[in-house]
Amino acid sequence: MKVLEAICATSIEVARKQIRFDEVSGLIREVGDLKVPRAEVDFYFDDGCLLFAGMGDVHIHAREDVSGKNSYKEDFLSALEAMKNGGLTHAGDMPNNPVPPIDNASYESKFNLAQKAHRCLWLYAGIGPNTRPLSYKVPYKVYMGPSIGELYFKDLKTLDETLSHYRGQHVSFHCEDPEVLEAHSLAATHHERRPVEAETVATRDALMLIEKYGLIGKLCHYSSHEGLKLIREARLRGVNVSIEVTPQHLYFDLEHLEDSRLKSFQMNPPIRHHHDREALKSALRNGEIQYLATDHAPHTKEEKEKGTSGLTGLDTYAGFVTWLLNEGFPPELMAKVCAENPGDFHNQFLASWNLLDQNKTNLGLGVGFLKPGFLANFTILRPNHPETVTVDKLRTKVLHSPFLGVTFPGSLKRLFIKGKEI
Ligand code: DOR
Repeated sequence: MKVLEAICATSIEVARKQIRFDEVSGLIREVGDLKVPRAEVDFYFDDGCLLFAGMGDVHIHAREDVSGKNSYKEDFLSALEAMKNGGLTHAGDMPNNPVPPIDNASYESKFNLAQKAHRCLWLYAGIGPNTRPLSYKVPYKVYMGPSIGELYFKDLKTLDETLSHYRGQHVSFHCEDPEVLEAHSLAATHHERRPVEAETVATRDALMLIEKYGLIGKLCHYSSHEGLKLIREARLRGVNVSIEVTPQHLYFDLEHLEDSRLKSFQMNPPIRHHHDREALKSALRNGEIQYLATDHAPHTKEEKEKGTSGLTGLDTYAGFVTWLLNEGFPPELMAKVCAENPGDFHNQFLASWNLLDQNKTNLGLGVGFLKPGFLANFTILRPNHPETVTVDKLRTKVLHSPFLGVTFPGSLKRLFIKGKEI
């Protein structure tokens, strides 16, 4: 048994606590005012540190699959190194691979490959034209229009017909409408080719489908202000929908990016205007957004120069959280969107993954909470210890980041995964 003491942030409170955990099982045993004398505390963190339950990213592209075709961009182990570098203890990998996981057999082959990341990586299954649900409960991802990879829909009719087979399932949507994208395909710039209208139209359709088929919906990497109004209205009607936002959509906007940098900032959906960024920040602040998720999407520098969409984000997660704290976003909110909500998302599929796990790794009650029975995963930040993002500090294979040169107000102090100091 080990004892750790730190100022702990949960969605309910920020308070100095002691945590007793078992480094063999990797599980938390007790949390609170345990009255362990200072001399017997194994890990003591002073008031300059802030501890959260291990943070999690519900949207990444680790690139590895059975074909191995994209492992030169990233693989499960390099993604895990970048996650740890950014203070992340678990992440959900998207299915837009050369061999997408769309049925039991392809999902299980990818699951077995991902085992090398010790269950820190978990998988979405893909939905494509005429796919059907797996026989056990997993999270699904649907690309409403073309982005990266071949797994996407070209029209609403096929999407509607396919989703009619997924009633009650957890479905995350990439909201860009294929017909709006097609209509703007000859525009001069990336953000004009993928306008806000594409997201707004797709949001309206996604909300309609979530309602129609009783889905538990999540809208990925939300980027613009218009659709937020539609989401608000749908929630008032009882539509079950949550939202992700990326660090890059909260930090950058077209008004502050010089034209020469636009290519390296290219992603789908694009970086938007200042008023979109402000709308996302206030939606995050008032609790309308549930997940801070990176959409870590590595491509090589050469591919980026040719105009491939996708930005990295794992390495800079912790630093970015300190920027949000510095902007006045409360630690309780950060605990919710970086640890507890991603934990809840992950934990609802735990039984399926335990069943598939040939190593029978014990994840207890799961991740994301400073409570007995959950994994002893801790992300400890130093909110007032500035650090500049430089290439030598990145662990992603592709060695670039939209935040290169940015000095965040704080940094990662320490990370624990399954009771082990990383
Ligand atoms: O910019 C993006 N890149 N958006 C996506 O939807 C996919 C991602 C990727 O896989 O590279």
